[in-house]
Amino acid sequence: MLPEVIAPQKTISFEKIETAIYTSEEQACSAVAEEIADLINKRQESGQRTVLGLATGATPKKVYAALIQLYVSGKLSFKNVVTFNLDEYYPMKPGALQSYHRFMEENLFNHIDIDKNNCFIPNGDIPQEEVKAHCEAYEKKIEEYGGIDFQLLGIGRNGHIGFNEPGSHVSSATRLITLDHLTRFDAAYEFGTLANVPRKAITAGMGTILKARRIVLLAWGERKAMIVRQAVEGPVTEFVPASYLQGHHNVTFVLDESVAAELTRKKTPWLTDEVAWNNGMIKKAVTYLALTLHKPILKLTNNDYNQNGLSDLLALYGQAYDINIEVFNQLQRSITGWPGGKPNADDTHRPERALPAKKRVVIFSPHPDDDIISMGGTFQRLVDQGHEVHVAYQTSGNIAVADDEALRFIEFVKDYNAQFNIDSPQAEHIYDEALKFIQVKGSGEKDTPELRYVKGIIRRGEAKNTCRFVGIPPEQVHFLNLPFYETGLVEKSPIGPADFDIIEALIRKIEPHQVYAAGDLADPHGTHKVCLDGIFEAMHRLKNEAFFKDCWLWLYKGAWAEWDIDLIEMVVPMSPDQVLKKRNGIFKHQSQKDGVVFQGADSREFWQRAEDRNRATAELYNKLGLAEYAAMEAFVRWKF
Ligand code: F6R
Repeated sequence: MLPEVIAPQKTISFEKIETAIYTSEEQACSAVAEEIADLINKRQESGQRTVLGLATGATPKKVYAALIQLYVSGKLSFKNVVTFNLDEYYPMKPGALQSYHRFMEENLFNHIDIDKNNCFIPNGDIPQEEVKAHCEAYEKKIEEYGGIDFQLLGIGRNGHIGFNEPGSHVSSATRLITLDHLTRFDAAYEFGTLANVPRKAITAGMGTILKARRIVLLAWGERKAMIVRQAVEGPVTEFVPASYLQGHHNVTFVLDESVAAELTRKKTPWLTDEVAWNNGMIKKAVTYLALTLHKPILKLTNNDYNQNGLSDLLALYGQAYDINIEVFNQLQRSITGWPGGKPNADDTHRPERALPAKKRVVIFSPHPDDDIISMGGTFQRLVDQGHEVHVAYQTSGNIAVADDEALRFIEFVKDYNAQFNIDSPQAEHIYDEALKFIQVKGSGEKDTPELRYVKGIIRRGEAKNTCRFVGIPPEQVHFLNLPFYETGLVEKSPIGPADFDIIEALIRKIEPHQVYAAGDLADPHGTHKVCLDGIFEAMHRLKNEAFFKDCWLWLYKGAWAEWDIDLIEMVVPMSPDQVLKKRNGIFKHQSQKDGVVFQGADSREFWQRAEDRNRATAELYNKLGLAEYAAMEAFVRWKF
């Protein structure tokens, strides 16, 4: 391994907007809440009110939670605060589940001492012919209150702020706007299906936003990393409305690490600043160089390093040849067909220990199909190589089953009973009730407990089927049904002690040598992140147990992105036949095929997404000059 060396200092910035990068969303949100509280308190001291511009959506929720905390602890009052929200869907009844009126009440206004007469939100419940006048009045009202002191913003994946979609003019005012396709796609989650998402919205304009005296834009999660980079480092363009903020004198982008990952100073830090040339950084730079130049690692020359901002690295270590070999070997050693360790082999340079030869393994799967989708090939190998593999399904996954799928199963029970003269008024009743409910069910409305139960057992049956297919006995299949998930809505409860206890008890019972978990460290809306937090907490509680010293945690990437190549510590290659077998394992999840409930913006079936991704990882290794495999599943080891 090459020794760590610090390169001489240089500081070049590509950023045209001030950015503040925090290690977590929580830290970022409490810092923003503190800034807002300071402003309110200072203005209050001099007898002035504060006018806040507010945003909705998943992003600012923790800021609102932190503000509520400050209010509850007596450090903040909203008596002297006026708020103007950015937007509202059109048409939209204020009481509807997805309305921003309701969002603000539930996430902030109902929990603080604000006078609701001072809370303004565009009205999505007026006739079309009144909208223009309503928008003009909204603008006027902001002016009457002296303009916005502090504007909070989120950002859409297309760069919208408020609902100023690409194409919005820099000086646009509050108006009715047609929503972009991507915006509607991203909102489909909350509305059940895309068809239910309104096509229009009323939004404060770009001009309205830019008049604010202070602007803070929040963004979390890797899904928005590219658009944040474009807004911060790219040209000012109507195609990325957030880039207009480059022209504002007092704006900060508050980011978490994962959304900042595409900024030049994070992606290729050697181009902007002094870096510590440690193992990870060298791997990052060399793989980046090889992929950018479309050259395998072993063909990189001194010239390539010099001409691409890596002369420091070369100067420190002498020769391209030495650096190339070092990184190539590291990648080579991450490839293993023995994810549970190879018995009787020298394991000095292998990702896993050889001993014990037979390991106890727990695969945590946030939903009932992440195990097979994300690490089906590895799951199969672990079983085939004789390890005691358990799967723990963390949530029931019940909200992702379509109503007609549930009805089909209830009908099956009804017909079966009729055929064999089994008198079950209960089954009849459940069917009738479910049918009645589904006929009147509103968009995104919560299912009845019976219907949720049915949906849950459908998914449970599919997961059992997969485990049977891979070859593990029923007693090694665990359904945790974590309570935080069971709200019946997209919105889940916060994870808490009841969930931690369940996860802890399972790990304690099995005393595993290996734990696999969905490592979506930065998936702000996601169940995966919450499920991972639960595992971290349970492991934290178990850290002093004897077995824990010998327990390794491997993270697979549960969502559709793969780990960055420089982070990967183990890759398990798959042959074409193994790819096919995995596909058949995924097929067991019938309820998740053919246009599922929460399809999102990606219309590919789950097996296609999994195959594309595993093929891409194999191609990446191959492009870097390593052997050519059909597919690969990648893992990062989490060290406590
Ligand atoms: C909402 C708004 C939008 C959102 C953006 C991000 O009031 O103005 O610009 O901030 O669509 O939404 P989330 O936070 O749900 O990803």
